[in-house]
Amino acid sequence: MSADDDKKLAAQSAVDLVEDGMVLGLGTGSTAVFAVQLLGERVKKGLKIKGVPTSDSTEKLARSVGIPIVTLDEFPALDLDIDGADEVEPSLCLIKGGGGALLREKIVAYASKRVVIIVDEKKLVEKLGKFHLPIEIVPFSRGLVQEKVDEMGAKSVVRVRDDRVFRTDENNLILDCDFGLIEDPRALAQKLSLIPGIVEHGLFIDMVERVIIGNDGKVKELTK
Ligand code: A5P
Repeated sequence: MSADDDKKLAAQSAVDLVEDGMVLGLGTGSTAVFAVQLLGERVKKGLKIKGVPTSDSTEKLARSVGIPIVTLDEFPALDLDIDGADEVEPSLCLIKGGGGALLREKIVAYASKRVVIIVDEKKLVEKLGKFHLPIEIVPFSRGLVQEKVDEMGAKSVVRVRDDRVFRTDENNLILDCDFGLIEDPRALAQKLSLIPGIVEHGLFIDMVERVIIGNDGKVKELTK
């Protein structure tokens, strides 16, 4: 079984939770792509859902597979959010943002009654932090925020993709921050939220109902 097979298996389990009439959060990343594709297959067979996408790329994919797109203005409370993650620790705190969509992902997760995360086994860790924490910042604040997070013990770099400074869907920058292993994700999340210029960070704390893990052809779950 490849990592993609395991991602697809996790995605299938999450999509099995979807019922007629639901308004869904549609995640971003290679695992969420499988979920959106599988949802599209069910829509073709008659499933009636609507989706709020967490990125421009997910919106494009969702439209292409026939999922009706709506906004949080129309539906501020969502039934279920299905999304991936970069790291998951035992109390279901996450690091997200490897794909640069953490801001809309966090807004959509917050808007959702239930958040189900789909990953392959490699995303499970004892402590968060090996995956450098993505932080979305307003470009104007870059120098200040880098100085502040560096003072907090991080090494931070502005994300570059394909030789260009990466811009999010909101035209902001991402700082990828190496804090080492994060002993207290809640405390770090609170500190980061106090720094002006940080729009959002990729620590998702107490937002998740269930993590579905694909591992070597089998599925297991972590719940709160
Ligand atoms: C997107 O910004 C991220 O939060 C993704 O959900 C995360 O990076 C997981 O992506 P993969 O499923 O591609 O590993």
